[in-house]
Amino acid sequence: MIKKVNVKTIQKMKDNGEKIAVLTAYDYSTAKYIDEAGADIILVGDSLANVALGYESTQSVSMNEMLIFVGAVARGVNRAFVIGDMPFMSYNISVEDAIKNCGDMLKAGANAVKIEGCNDYLLKVMRRCIDAGIPVLGHLGFTPQSINTIGGHAIQGKNVDAVKELLEKAKKLEEVGAFAIVLEMVPEEAAKYITENIHIPTISIGAGKYCSGQVLVSDDMLGKFSDYQPKFVRKYADMKSVILDAVKRYCEDVKSGDYPSENEVFNLKEDENEKLKKEAALC
Ligand code: KIV
Repeated sequence: MIKKVNVKTIQKMKDNGEKIAVLTAYDYSTAKYIDEAGADIILVGDSLANVALGYESTQSVSMNEMLIFVGAVARGVNRAFVIGDMPFMSYNISVEDAIKNCGDMLKAGANAVKIEGCNDYLLKVMRRCIDAGIPVLGHLGFTPQSINTIGGHAIQGKNVDAVKELLEKAKKLEEVGAFAIVLEMVPEEAAKYITENIHIPTISIGAGKYCSGQVLVSDDMLGKFSDYQPKFVRKYADMKSVILDAVKRYCEDVKSGDYPSENEVFNLKEDENEKLKKEAALC
């Protein structure tokens, strides 16, 4: 029997110095393979707004859209811990509204939710979630849902004061009960300092090798999404070429009549075929 990853397993990994491998997934089949290949955590990120739905901003994806993808991923996963990313404005209006939406993520199949940022209001939301049995993954550093107030894709924690502020926030998230924190686009030295000064794991996306784990958008590392590529992405495959090549060959085969072959069709039994031929001759 496969033992499902849970919040305790994730903490143990940091405690034992074992790195945590995290990837995003958005559909059943991809989630199944990512799980089978050994990722510890699968994040149904709101990055699906860009890579799966073609929106320009993650701010465009709705709660209802997220729930469809969370359900699909959860149905494909046996071992990995599945996290549903709370989309823009799904947790910002009121605590009650936020708890309901976070609960819906778990009802759709997620094991936890991710919430961007840290302020008094968000800490209250996180506390209520955890009290209700909803594990929370924090997200500090560059928080894409706040891109308009941040003023673009900017590295966060670039001086000692900013790093100290990030650590303060990380400590607050830990205190409220978050089981781990994503650090996005933070200098490696700053992420190391934060990781060493909190107990819960940190998951890096563009925050260097000293974090407790790493996360990448699967469409980026598989070479499927090609609109842009952040510096921190390592490409492990070239899915775009694989898809282009396969589709080109399929189109050629359809147009030349090579597809389908006799092995790729269904046939009538011989006597029925003979009858059909006679019918055709009468026409
Ligand atoms: O939406 C996303 O994919 C994320 C990252 C941390 C990978 O939030």
